[in-house]
Amino acid sequence: MTNPRQTQRLSADEAGIAAAAELLRAGRLVALPTETVYGLAADASDDRAVASIYAAKERPSFNPLISHLPDVDAARRQGLFDAPALALAKAFWPGPLTLVVPASSACTICSLARAGLDSVALRVPSHPVARAVLQAAGRPIAAPSANRSGRVSPTQAEHVLADLDGRIDAVLDAGPTVVGVESSIVACLGGAPRLLRPGGVPRAALEAAIGQALVIVAEGGAAPLAPGLLASHYAPRAAVRLDAEAPLADEAWLGFGAEPNSGPLPALAFNLSPTGDLTEAAANLFAAMRRLDDQRPATIAVASIPMHGLGEAINDRLKRAAAPR
Ligand code: TXA
Ligand code: MG
Repeated sequence: MTNPRQTQRLSADEAGIAAAAELLRAGRLVALPTETVYGLAADASDDRAVASIYAAKERPSFNPLISHLPDVDAARRQGLFDAPALALAKAFWPGPLTLVVPASSACTICSLARAGLDSVALRVPSHPVARAVLQAAGRPIAAPSANRSGRVSPTQAEHVLADLDGRIDAVLDAGPTVVGVESSIVACLGGAPRLLRPGGVPRAALEAAIGQALVIVAEGGAAPLAPGLLASHYAPRAAVRLDAEAPLADEAWLGFGAEPNSGPLPALAFNLSPTGDLTEAAANLFAAMRRLDDQRPATIAVASIPMHGLGEAINDRLKRAAAPR
């Protein structure tokens, strides 16, 4: 347990951004908006600040964190980029991509944030408010998603407060995030680049930038290469039934595209994208899961979602939400 604290609500204006950066420089915890999900931010070079992230989230400490930088040059001071890593950084930064690369000898990211690994996970987000805070903070900022460990990731400041009010120093509220699923994570550690987590950049786009297919890291592999890939991550309280053609009696319904014509939908129903737009569905996914789950259904039935584009990341998160726990 962390000490109860007063959680300040900061608005995403000049004063709020300056206050957030000041808190971060003082080793405090601030939830920040990014284009993917809200992150629980702390100074990545400060072991105590990073330790308080793990404590607030109740996250197992073997799980390494992503460090956020304001631009590619700042990221290249922290890590060693091979040719594929450089190509990916040039194509997708700033944006929803995380690169796992060997730490440089000048790396200032503390070993707790790296969970003792000699690699680092780096990301240059595109959200203007995140970039302004990173500029003002002037140091790498560690930020996992701002939810309690194992819960659904937050895409709105209200979601952050539902999980972490009284456990963090501030939340900087910039409204709902636009991408809605976390960054894609690619490891470039020599040899062929590996996709550790499907996310906000579709796999086909990543592969086009490096001119080769990504190695997909099999789930449940030996080492916790990307421990966020633990099967029961992203868990609502309800059971989740995937690839449903229609809801059964008493099930809540999470639809996609045209609704089933087998009968009326339950009162507790939400459509991720009535037009079948995967980008819109990704942006709505976590908020919809929270909204349904808050009404305490026993089971949420989910329509099947195609695997192309952002569908791979959406299906990945849904599969984890449905995993036994
Ligand atoms: O979109 C995002 O990536 C969000 C926003 C806030 O930036 N952040 C996020 O962070 O999702 P987090 O901590 O929830 O996920 C970090 C993932 C985990 O699966 C972790 O295991 C993996 O990155 N990771 C971090 N460092 C790693 C490393 N050195 N090697 C392999 N995997 C690593
Ligand atoms: Mg997370």
